[in-house]
Amino acid sequence: MNAQEDPGGRAIEEVARDFHHHDDGLDVAFDVYKALRERCPVGRSERYGGFWFLTRFRDIHDAEQDWETFSVAPGMLLPPMGHSRPGIPIDIDPPMHTKYRRIMLPAFTTQHVEAAGAMVRRHANDLLDGFGDDEQVDVAERYAVPLPMRVFCELAGLPIADAARLEDWIDRIFYVRTHDYADTERAAAECCAYLSDHFDARRKAPLRPDLFGRLLEAEVDGRPLSDEELVDYGFVLLTAGLDTTSWVIRSSLWFLAQHGEDRERLASSPELVPAAVEEFLRCLSSVQAMARTVTREVEIDGHRLAEGDRVLLVFGAGNRDEAEFPQGDRIVIDREPNAHMAFGVGIHRCLGSNLARRELRVGLTEFLARYTDFSLAPGSDPPWYGIGPLPLMLPRREAGA
Ligand code: HEM
Repeated sequence: MNAQEDPGGRAIEEVARDFHHHDDGLDVAFDVYKALRERCPVGRSERYGGFWFLTRFRDIHDAEQDWETFSVAPGMLLPPMGHSRPGIPIDIDPPMHTKYRRIMLPAFTTQHVEAAGAMVRRHANDLLDGFGDDEQVDVAERYAVPLPMRVFCELAGLPIADAARLEDWIDRIFYVRTHDYADTERAAAECCAYLSDHFDARRKAPLRPDLFGRLLEAEVDGRPLSDEELVDYGFVLLTAGLDTTSWVIRSSLWFLAQHGEDRERLASSPELVPAAVEEFLRCLSSVQAMARTVTREVEIDGHRLAEGDRVLLVFGAGNRDEAEFPQGDRIVIDREPNAHMAFGVGIHRCLGSNLARRELRVGLTEFLARYTDFSLAPGSDPPWYGIGPLPLMLPRREAGA
């Protein structure tokens, strides 16, 4: 597409009306973001019952700060995740949000997450060992997806043997909700029943110092969490941290498979990996947008948003805004500064960002320590997004090279 044209040669009004952030919307996302930022930064889409969207970094940033006007009720996801109650803490406004969030903050501090680094590395290497001498590997299925799953199971105290079930639920919760919402609701109900059984069993056993153990011993307003609160919190922790992280491991490898110079730079200078991870988060991240509901009339860029209107904060578009990031559409692996909004920038800022960063850094470093010269499998044209197959050709690194 010529950068001056609107995506698909459509008028910008039509692009705005049809704007969405899933499925085939992601195929054209970056061209659409650019066109919208320049010509319709605040607009209205007719998808999902109608919603406003914000595409400029500054507008999204300001809305994120103003949580009283931009509420997370009844839920941040658009369309929702099929759960009958709001997720904790993600779909809850202060003051309860602050109380719930406080419970988990100590588990996700940098120091706490650093301590899990060796465990993450062990799982990464186990999975890489499993490639054996295979020259073509679907690295999504065999690395990007199982790595966060194993890490989360270990941190939460869930059996890794349950991974296939958890993956199935997450898949149906995130990737089916746009076209078969009834199945998403079924998956969410099954997942919540599983969590409920898990918490019941754990209550009868000695307390263990893991993520879910922390929920079991937590108190809000001087009382323990109810059965429903345990499930609603467990459900968010489980669904927020798996495919989000898998996606970025996969999209980073997707990019590196096609950019030899960057790949070699990172392999020979692993100290650049943390900066590269931030750049992949900025440009190829899993959470492209989150929704809010307007609680009182507000004007943005000449548009009047009414109480009750839904608004999508398009982090993926803000993250490529030239006003904030020079050459925003270019992936520059040592970009500095890089204050992106891939984890949000307000009171709901990702609770697991330290853990996600640790997994991404370890995941890429260990991969590049074994494979430098990888490429997309011939004939494959995998999309940049999602957690679908990413078949790579993996010539082994020469010993001593
Ligand atoms: C690359 C991986 C990840 C990305 C891109 C990501 C992104 C995000 C975003 C954009 C938000 C919402 C911010 C907002 O609307 O202001 C969020 C919230 C959240 N994330 Fe993550 N996330 C990732 C991994 C994780 C992990 C590993 C966990 C934990 C296991 C986690 C747990 C949460 C929780 C609990 C919230 C809700 C926080 C609150 O409402 O206060 N995330 N994440």
